[in-house]
Amino acid sequence: MKTTYQTILDLSPLVRLGDGCLIDAGVLLGYRTGRQIQSEELIIGDNARIRSGTVIYAGTRIGNNFQTGHNVVIREENEIGDDVCIWSNTVLGYGCRLGNRVKLHCNITVGEFTVIEDDVFISANSVLPNDLHPGCAFSRQCMRGPHICRGAQIGVNVTIMPFVTIGERALIGGGSVVTHDIPPRAVAVGNPARVIKSISDLRCLTGLTDKPYPD
Ligand SMILES: CC(C)(COP(=O)(O)OP(=O)(O)OC[C@H]1O[C@@H](n2cnc3c(N)ncnc32)[C@H](O)[C@@H]1OP(=O)(O)O)[C@@H](O)C(=O)NCCC(=O)NCCS
Repeated sequence: MKTTYQTILDLSPLVRLGDGCLIDAGVLLGYRTGRQIQSEELIIGDNARIRSGTVIYAGTRIGNNFQTGHNVVIREENEIGDDVCIWSNTVLGYGCRLGNRVKLHCNITVGEFTVIEDDVFISANSVLPNDLHPGCAFSRQCMRGPHICRGAQIGVNVTIMPFVTIGERALIGGGSVVTHDIPPRAVAVGNPARVIKSISDLRCLTGLTDKPYPD
């Protein structure tokens, strides 16, 4: 299927789009950063659906079946896997790695040099900062966002501090501020977030299932 690019601007030669993409009017692809980067190509795989207001910088690689909501900003030097969704007003800083099937909900800020592995879900209004001591003369050299391991679930309005690792399939409760590493499969809540149980201890309140997170 042919890609449809509904805009009055020509597509920049820096942009390589796969087959079957549908790109709204008012999308900007291949915006050039002021930073020095290795490659200025923006590569987007097959079947992308990119909605109006989205800006994706030159120098990023994105896999197949990518989707955005409206007004998403994706900076340069990001590596993004297949089947990823990034919903409205979310901003992804430069130099991040996102695995396959990652879902970022609305109004999320992901700081530069963050790693988000396969099957992670991050709920609305969460913030992943990367600079532990903002304003320090060495900030630029040491910036590092959190590392969210495979299958972790992050609740609404969560802050995960720089350098923190969230273990595989861990669940962070809504409104938490995570200042220390969280082990795999742990449920952590509060500010600062503390582990209260394992995901195997969680029970469904509605009776639809026995365990919401089977082993
Ligand atoms: C963390 C969570 C999974 C805990 O669920 P649960 O274990 O069934 O909850 P419980 O009711 O047994 O809570 C255990 C304790 O933790 C507290 N708690 C639960 N969630 C909390 C949270 N997000 N922040 C602070 N404390 C929390 C409860 O008040 C309770 O404390 P208490 O024993 O002193 O009363 C759930 O509360 C949560 O936050 N889910 C994420 C919701 C969300 O953000 N979804 C986003 C997609 S829409």
